[in-house]
Amino acid sequence: MTDHAPKAADLPLAERVSLLSGETFWRTRALPARGVPAVVLSDGPHGLRFQAEAGDHLGIAGSTPATCFPTAVTLASTWDDDLVADVGRAVAVEALALDVDVVLGPGINIKRHPLGGRNFEYLSEDPLLTGRLAAAMVEGIQGQGVGACVKHYAVNNQEGHRFVVDAVVEERTLREIYLAGFELAMGRQPWCVMSSYNLVNGEYAGESPHLMRRILRDEWGFEGVVMSDWGAVSDRARGVAVGLDLEMPGSGGLFDAEVLQAVADGRLDEACVTESAQRVLDLAARAPRTGGGATLPAEEHDALARRVAAEGSVLLTNDGTLPLRQDWSVALIGAFAEQPRYQGSGSSLVTPTRITTALEALRGRGTAVTYAAGYDLAVDEARPDLIEEAVRAARETDVAVVMVGLPPRYESESFDRTDLALPAAHDALVRAVAAVNPRTVVALSNGAPVLLPWKDEVAAILESYLGGQASGGGLVDVLSGDVEPGGRLAETFPARQADVAADPWFPGEPHQVDYREGLSVGYRHDGAAPLFPFGHGLGYTTMRWDDFAATQAQVVAGDDLAVEGVVTNTGDRAGSDVVQVYVRDHTGVVRRPPRELAGYAKVRLLPGESARVSIRISARAFAYFDVDADGWRTPSGAYDLEVARSSADVVATLRVRVAGDIDRAGEPADSPALATDDAVFARRLGRPVPRPRPVRPFSRQSTTGEIASTRVGALARAAMMRRLGVDQLEDEHERLMMRAMFDEMPLRAVAVFSRGALSLPTVDLLVAVLNRDVADLGRRLLMLPPAAVRRLRRR
Ligand code: BGC
Repeated sequence: MTDHAPKAADLPLAERVSLLSGETFWRTRALPARGVPAVVLSDGPHGLRFQAEAGDHLGIAGSTPATCFPTAVTLASTWDDDLVADVGRAVAVEALALDVDVVLGPGINIKRHPLGGRNFEYLSEDPLLTGRLAAAMVEGIQGQGVGACVKHYAVNNQEGHRFVVDAVVEERTLREIYLAGFELAMGRQPWCVMSSYNLVNGEYAGESPHLMRRILRDEWGFEGVVMSDWGAVSDRARGVAVGLDLEMPGSGGLFDAEVLQAVADGRLDEACVTESAQRVLDLAARAPRTGGGATLPAEEHDALARRVAAEGSVLLTNDGTLPLRQDWSVALIGAFAEQPRYQGSGSSLVTPTRITTALEALRGRGTAVTYAAGYDLAVDEARPDLIEEAVRAARETDVAVVMVGLPPRYESESFDRTDLALPAAHDALVRAVAAVNPRTVVALSNGAPVLLPWKDEVAAILESYLGGQASGGGLVDVLSGDVEPGGRLAETFPARQADVAADPWFPGEPHQVDYREGLSVGYRHDGAAPLFPFGHGLGYTTMRWDDFAATQAQVVAGDDLAVEGVVTNTGDRAGSDVVQVYVRDHTGVVRRPPRELAGYAKVRLLPGESARVSIRISARAFAYFDVDADGWRTPSGAYDLEVARSSADVVATLRVRVAGDIDRAGEPADSPALATDDAVFARRLGRPVPRPRPVRPFSRQSTTGEIASTRVGALARAAMMRRLGVDQLEDEHERLMMRAMFDEMPLRAVAVFSRGALSLPTVDLLVAVLNRDVADLGRRLLMLPPAAVRRLRRR
């Protein structure tokens, strides 16, 4: 608690309750008479999306220019905690300049399936990498006195049905995969955590006593504010009871009456209200309030963005064509060279301070460049005329650089991708160019794994991901060899969609998704060989690894150890490398993935230089979550520590023996990894496999898309759409995302976004009408406030 915050207990109950909901779209409630200011919140894990106030009801359109850094997927590919902290620091500096107190990021949900629409905004499929980078980001931001808000807690791994879907996941998987990253990040005490939209095992995440009280507060000791994702509140009183302190955005006091009633009825302990109000007051007391005015260091941050774009680029293949020779003429092909895809759509969309395109950057170096668009960004099918033009250019130059990837409409918050393919036009272009120029280099702009059917027909493939506003410059730095492509994949590129273990159950039913693949996420799945493995990435120099050994061969459960060795740059250019250590369990005590990341270190070396690296392996690396014992336990026996260049390229294997605390587990090691079978899934869940909640009868939880199946519902939906201005956005992608978001929005959330213009009693009335429930309708009509009755009459 902060010294100068007023004491919540001294405030009248109604005032305490009022603090538990935002004042506006981006601010918490101020109490000027008591000297309590509003806290200003702003989106943007990879840069600020600061809106002075919402330009529209859903807070999507327009924001103040800020540096658009590379998105989370690119940041994570650096495997560089320090660099990620630098980006956090820079975002916080901009927050101070724009008068923002809390940055709504980082987003750290696990990439369960490469089709997840928001994967570009998340870090990795691996919880250790996710957690370490998230912690670094939090430290970077908060070191400047600005708050971070780690989101979305928890199990928010898909966009489809995100407002209402129930993620059914067994406790072991929950702890080891989906919560472990949050747990690591909590070690830095972020000021805030954002609870997610979805349900987890039958309860809304922000209303789950298990997630919110037991794990987040009691086990991890989180002391800050938990705020709801925007429009995620379902039953406010239940949320307050478990410590969901702040409802966002401000709903105009929509739920206040329900909270007060719950206190009056004894359903909600008043102490919970006081506790949450105090946390909101404490947050306001620590908010920086610089008075703004500082100028945003745009040039310096653009340079940082450019450096990170290069460091996060992953060289997937290279026959030696890269780096390009300075005297080579280049055909730069692909509309992305002029209209870069450098970030994803949705709430993380930053208005950049400037944009550097690849075409500009390449011409700026004095390279002889012929440009050809190659495809029309607005259409998927190949345009023979554009391909012909590209082929002509590629024939006449020393090298062809083809920029392909996913156009913005493919990847966004609010909807998932439907398959892993690139647009047909992009595949056709690569093939046509590669057929005429053996030095064809492909540079990819996308936020998540794609299929590359022409992989073996091209000279090099560079995965540049979504590299932020300076991505064009970063790309040219890497192509030319000015900068080493320092990236390693933070996710698996599957060879086929069906190879993803979660595929049969993704995205599930509208109201339920079963996590039957359990621990088999990404490289943890013991399946077909991937297109490119987790951890993979090439450099321009050569590195030798020597003398790797564990600091102890005998380990006692609970003790950390280290793996140490020497890395030497044996090439003639500066470069970097990422030493990865995986743990492989040979104890046979319990079912485990073949290998799991246990530690990593990034090294940068000049030509001929050597460095000793030490990789800390935490005791947790050997432990698993024992559901029966309700805690972490360490099987006794032999383990390998695999020193590796990727999850599929082990360089040295170090055997250690661990004196653990368990020799035999309830579930044997040979039980199936995937709970395809209902009986297996039920046993792991400890309850029968639930059935999805039916669409009817309708309720406050019904989505606008669902009620549109009735005539009255369709009319109501149209009216709500007009009210929220869903189709009024100018930008096509924003419209697309808004429409998807709106159709999946439950009625209670529409009420929140309408700021009370649609009241909860009116929602309940509509529900009674939709259900043709005459008795309920009568009761609801009697309960309507007089103002609402007057409004209805006027209609
Ligand atoms: C997103 C959050 C975001 C919030 C505010 C939500 O739709 O899920 O990540 O911070 O909107 O824009």
